[in-house]
Amino acid sequence: MSISHKLFGTLPDGRGVDVYTLRNASGVKVRILTYGGAIQQLYIPDRKGCFCDVLGGYDCLDSYVRGDGYQGALIGRVGNRIAKGTFTLDGKEYRMFINNGPNHLHGGEFGFNAKIFDVVATEDTDTPSLSLRYVSPDGEEQYPGTLTVTVTYTLTAENGLRIRYVATTDKKTILNLTNHSYFNLAGYATGSVLDHELYLDADTYLPTDTSLIPTGELRPVANTPFDFTVAKPIGQDIEADNADLTIAGGYDHCFNFRGGASHEPVLRATLYHRESGRKMDVYTNQPCVQVYTGNFLTNEEFPFKGNFAQRPRSFVCLETQHMPDSINHENFTDCTLSPGEVYDYTTEYRFSVE
Ligand code: GLA
Repeated sequence: MSISHKLFGTLPDGRGVDVYTLRNASGVKVRILTYGGAIQQLYIPDRKGCFCDVLGGYDCLDSYVRGDGYQGALIGRVGNRIAKGTFTLDGKEYRMFINNGPNHLHGGEFGFNAKIFDVVATEDTDTPSLSLRYVSPDGEEQYPGTLTVTVTYTLTAENGLRIRYVATTDKKTILNLTNHSYFNLAGYATGSVLDHELYLDADTYLPTDTSLIPTGELRPVANTPFDFTVAKPIGQDIEADNADLTIAGGYDHCFNFRGGASHEPVLRATLYHRESGRKMDVYTNQPCVQVYTGNFLTNEEFPFKGNFAQRPRSFVCLETQHMPDSINHENFTDCTLSPGEVYDYTTEYRFSVE
């Protein structure tokens, strides 16, 4: 229905960061920053038609710059971890920035979450959209190839927030883009997400070592706390006596969708908050989702919007993507991109009430 923008804040180096507001006819509203393409607010209705903001995030730019947790941000070039920050591509060894224990996480020291994206198109229609572009220079954060990334956010008439990622490179490289939104369908300032029911169309998950690097095994979810093939509350088994849960302090694992990547986006996950009736269906053509229950949300220095304190397990992230550390595992999904190929993935978070 409409799209508008204004200045959100100014970086220490003087560059301005804008916030774009997209609204549809049903009153759904989303705010997106040009800094990291971060989704800063998302207002959706409950069963009674009351709107609230269901996303983690901050009120001011400084918290996006200095806070951790990648609130709402685009993640690149490679989402999740690369073991010991090392990989070999076409015989050449790459050594990446180490920013998470012994590993490389979410693109390195200054990942896409810390870049200002250019606005290349906006559409002011029934399905307002915003297209952001970032050209990552060859060698940025040690990654090979000039990478051109265009991310388009569309608010659909059916209350879907669609994110399409398109990328090309001029040298063979690796790539795993995602969005790091934290959801709590009761409202961002309500507390625990453990009562939310989750369904995942995933029959295996990736166990990890103690630094959260996948061991290489694709383990069946059947008869484990990782079985969400029938919807269940996130908290139902989170305290189970299970080594994989203990290592991560909750869920922080890659779940592999049945049949792998699909041509068109299909329904792969549903998050439901029974009390409010808010439901989120996740459609994607990605092969996997990292389910992260906000186990590390403890940073007192950077409270969320409205001065709401960070608390572990108060949100869940459903980061659609390829398998973490896939470049170091032959049996994992292929995350390489070559010149002439087009990386093209879409994830839609579609909201309704039930
Ligand atoms: C991902 C990772 C988590 C954590 C968050 C950011 O979800 O899997 O371990 O690093 O990002 O805090």
